[in-house]
Amino acid sequence: MCGIFAYLNYKVGRERRYILEVLFNGLRRLEYRGYDSSGIAIDSDLDSDPVLVEGGGNGGAQAGRPPYDSAPPLVFRQEGKIESLVGSVYSEADVMDLNLEKPFSVHAGIAHTRWATHGVPSPRNSHPQSSGPWNEFVVVHNGIITNYEVLKETLIRHGFTFESDTDTEVIPKLAKFVFDKARDEGGEQAVTFSQVVTEVMRQLEGAYALIFKSPHYPNELIACKRGSTLILGVKELTDANTGTLFHDVKALTTNGKPKELFFSSDLCAIVEHTKNYLAIEDNEVVHIKDGCVSILKFDYGKEKPASVQRALSVLEMEVEQIKKGNYDHFMQKEIHEQPHSLTTTMRGRLRDNDVVLGGLKVHLKTIRHSRRIIFIGCGTSYNAALAARPFLEELSGIPVAMELASDLLDRQGPIYREDTAVFVSQSGETADTLLALEYALENGALCVGITNTVGSTLARKTHCGVHINAGCEIGVASTKAYTSQIVVMVMVALAIGADKISTQSKRDAIINALHDLPNQVSEVLKLDSEMKDLAESLIETQSLLVFGRGYNYATALEGALKVKEVALMHSEGMLAGEMKHGPLALVDETLPIIVIATRDACFSKQQSVIQQLHARKGRLIVMCSNGDVSSVCPSGSCRVIEVPQVADCLQPVINIVPLQLLAYHLTVLRGYDVDQPRNLAKSVTTQ
Ligand code: F6R
Repeated sequence: MCGIFAYLNYKVGRERRYILEVLFNGLRRLEYRGYDSSGIAIDSDLDSDPVLVEGGGNGGAQAGRPPYDSAPPLVFRQEGKIESLVGSVYSEADVMDLNLEKPFSVHAGIAHTRWATHGVPSPRNSHPQSSGPWNEFVVVHNGIITNYEVLKETLIRHGFTFESDTDTEVIPKLAKFVFDKARDEGGEQAVTFSQVVTEVMRQLEGAYALIFKSPHYPNELIACKRGSTLILGVKELTDANTGTLFHDVKALTTNGKPKELFFSSDLCAIVEHTKNYLAIEDNEVVHIKDGCVSILKFDYGKEKPASVQRALSVLEMEVEQIKKGNYDHFMQKEIHEQPHSLTTTMRGRLRDNDVVLGGLKVHLKTIRHSRRIIFIGCGTSYNAALAARPFLEELSGIPVAMELASDLLDRQGPIYREDTAVFVSQSGETADTLLALEYALENGALCVGITNTVGSTLARKTHCGVHINAGCEIGVASTKAYTSQIVVMVMVALAIGADKISTQSKRDAIINALHDLPNQVSEVLKLDSEMKDLAESLIETQSLLVFGRGYNYATALEGALKVKEVALMHSEGMLAGEMKHGPLALVDETLPIIVIATRDACFSKQQSVIQQLHARKGRLIVMCSNGDVSSVCPSGSCRVIEVPQVADCLQPVINIVPLQLLAYHLTVLRGYDVDQPRNLAKSVTTQ
């Protein structure tokens, strides 16, 4: 739920201000992952920095000599958004008289943005967490340590005192414990940084990505992971100013040439520096020393980790994707870029009358013989699967079950070897979804992943899958990933159903409609100012209901979720067929109700719902197909949103767009934070 970042410049002279800005910028890119506190650790300089500080942070400065020869790390931590950290670092630097123009030929900095799990947001609970006085080991962590209580008790018995309420604090303290023990037994040079970290890793349980910094190993960084995603970015420079990209991974481990290296929870934070990256795998320990990168693979069965060679990949992402461009917010940009993201999702996958999904090809036969297909996900990803379900049932003839990942786990619902379990997740890192994946794997199901995140845990742990290729989604509220997920699942249904002659003409029609879908989304985006106008009329409203059915039950759930999570307004998506079984009691002249009544097989039923709501003087807002106003609102007394009509199974992609726009404008008008809604984070990596 947090974001971690590190920057090491090796023989590339950089001033302290530059280094700080790279770290801050990395955090800004990751802020969507957590935004209640943040922190950094940078190097000081024994010769010129006037204040050397003892303790976990810089408060209560105490001069003296550290228990090592290099300069102590300076740790800054702050509650609130990244900009409060930035402000406090510069003002503390001023008070400490730190020279921001001081050049460092080699410098290793680490950074963290937090979404609190253990302990309230506060500087004390922020990362980097420290081993204690003189910051002998400082660590940033994304994930959760499940055995931290046991470790903490043991460390307390060995004389350690704890300052924070975090699970993370055991990690640097354990590192110091391992280090001290090795030194006591073997002397000064007894233990390397990677030996310390592998021993720490051996004792940790849970899911984590970690970056370690230590003045005992100046100018080195170590990162390791199990579960949470971690990326290494490499930019080799021919000289200090001109950048050339680095391709030979072997040389990476030996050449020691000038370079800049980055660790990040997400590719978004490194794309502006380099496109050469490595998705670090579970149980790998990546050690940067003397400008070289070495990777050890940790094997629990074996005494010593083995050295491994990995190839760098080239990132297919443009810097523009992580910038707001001319938009005020990422959510707004991501809503408006849907014609483009949908095009990218379909690129190379649609043939004349066929769909080619390379990641599924060899498994299609097994899927067709499944007893059941089970869609599993959370939140918006679940809603996307719900939207695709009717089409998959129709084309495959296989029963399709829906599971919210947390509920499946709570019930330990039955999953069989004959099942195909399809996991849908934008981030590919949602803890509930990943635990459900483990559960399905244990039960022998074929596991298919549908995710936006290359190299994510979901992508790696499923048997096969499809990337949605919607591009980096930064707004916490998922928008473009939702529509791309639906389109991918429609394509999956087309691929599964491709062996049936009886559905050929239907499939041809949908493939044609898919080609035209981005244009239709561009059309519906023209409703932007109309939706702003509607939002203005709803600013003061306490509550909003959205009724849908069939393909658009999912639209009702997703539209209501968007309004709820960003505009902080109570809203409920409801199955229109259930209206008479309770919700009708809520209807009066004040409560706004959106009814989705675009043309499909359920249209006449929705007409009847509108009539019933109308008879009870409901405050109606009806979404209908272009030209259908008189059919849905003969009295002319309801507000109408007209949208283009497309094939039934693609209509949810069109219908959600006005609701995304409504949620966006409501949020802005109500004065809330659009991209970082209260209490939420983009990837929910804890249960
Ligand atoms: C809502 C939203 C969440 C996510 C949910 C699952 O806008 O973004 O409901 O959809 O947390 O996240 P992923 O798709 O990353 O598994």
